[in-house]
Amino acid sequence: MDPQTFSHSDSRAVETSTAAIYDQYVLKNYAAAPLALTKGEGSYVWDEKGQRYLDFTSGIAVCTLGHCHPAWVEVITQQARELIHVSNLYRNQNQAFLAKKLVERIGPGRMFFCNSGTEANEMLLKLSRLHGVKQSGEEGKRYKVITAENSFHGRTFGGMSVTPQEKIQSGFRPLLPGCLTAKINDLESFEKVIDETTAAVLIEPIQGEGGITPCTMEFLVGLRDLCNRKGALLLLDEVQSGIGRTGEFLASQSSGIIPDGIAMAKGLGGGFPIGAVWIREDSADLFQPGSHGSTFGGTPLSCAAALAVLDVFDKESVLENVKINGSYMIEVLEKLSHEYPEKIKDIRGRGFMIGIQMRSDPTPVVDALREIGLLVPAAGGNVVRLLPPLIASRKEIDEAITLIRTVLKNLELK
Ligand SMILES: Cc1ncc(COP(=O)(O)O)c(C=O)c1O
Repeated sequence: MDPQTFSHSDSRAVETSTAAIYDQYVLKNYAAAPLALTKGEGSYVWDEKGQRYLDFTSGIAVCTLGHCHPAWVEVITQQARELIHVSNLYRNQNQAFLAKKLVERIGPGRMFFCNSGTEANEMLLKLSRLHGVKQSGEEGKRYKVITAENSFHGRTFGGMSVTPQEKIQSGFRPLLPGCLTAKINDLESFEKVIDETTAAVLIEPIQGEGGITPCTMEFLVGLRDLCNRKGALLLLDEVQSGIGRTGEFLASQSSGIIPDGIAMAKGLGGGFPIGAVWIREDSADLFQPGSHGSTFGGTPLSCAAALAVLDVFDKESVLENVKINGSYMIEVLEKLSHEYPEKIKDIRGRGFMIGIQMRSDPTPVVDALREIGLLVPAAGGNVVRLLPPLIASRKEIDEAITLIRTVLKNLELK
């Protein structure tokens, strides 16, 4: 951008025509709602007309500390003044500290940093190939990856290949070979597909985009056992369910299983882009210098943002907040579902990752909620998702419930 021709005040002057500029210049790959957000603070955001919204989208499970948490802003501001980027040709302290902190929270292993969830999953797919070569002694023999129906793992070619949804894959085939599917929470169906050509099983502990469908603990334990017996890796996609979203650091932790690799992103940077992969100790050496990399992965600035998130988690007991207020919110929503059984089919999820499954298309509900001041995303399977920032208070949750109740009461649903 040429500073001679563009300044921040110019951008303010044309604010009112944001929609028109979008229409003319921004690719039409998103069906964005008709509002432009300009400011955020805690659990609230404001649009360019000054309208305030309670934000239970959280940037789709990204803004863990809400918007512009003062301690987080302070850390990234300070870091931006000191050192932003150096590349991975050199080491940087923040990457080292963040890797150590994550390994301490997850278990013995090693970390790799990238920039997004889909990149983290790409890394896991590459891990599965290296594992297959190690097991079978040659390339192309053991390379298949099994994932669950309705899962979502990203938009790159690897990500799409393991995302068995027509709307994601359509128009982009041929995709990666050897990506198979089985049914979530149905061990037998995984057992049927897995064989000596399978390198890995990749699974979301709670499906997010698919409609907030949790894996049962028994299923995860069973998958671990199945993968052990068949010599395949068990890889977890905790991109949406991880980083405190369920009240545990990772959603899979209460199952007690130890996977071989974990993809993380979204909430880790609290709004600053960062992805991370944890690889269990015994598989970590499969990657050697040159076998993977990322120019922007693990910069001093992105790692500072993630370190600030983890610091606030401890100082402000954020995960306890999610556990207590998440259970409360689910309890109240369940009561609400009994009041409107003709509209609500099911309430699902854990912590601050909750799905209200409607009996019809959730779009009118999402639109009506936005109009009265609550931002929430939809998900597959007619689900309205609630993804509050992890610092959301009881008062804010009650406010959201009141708005949801209002919409359920007044909206005619077909
Ligand atoms: C479970 C899961 N995996 C991967 C992704 C892709 O992450 P990103 O959009 O950061 O590439 C998402 C995004 O919604 C996700 O929910």
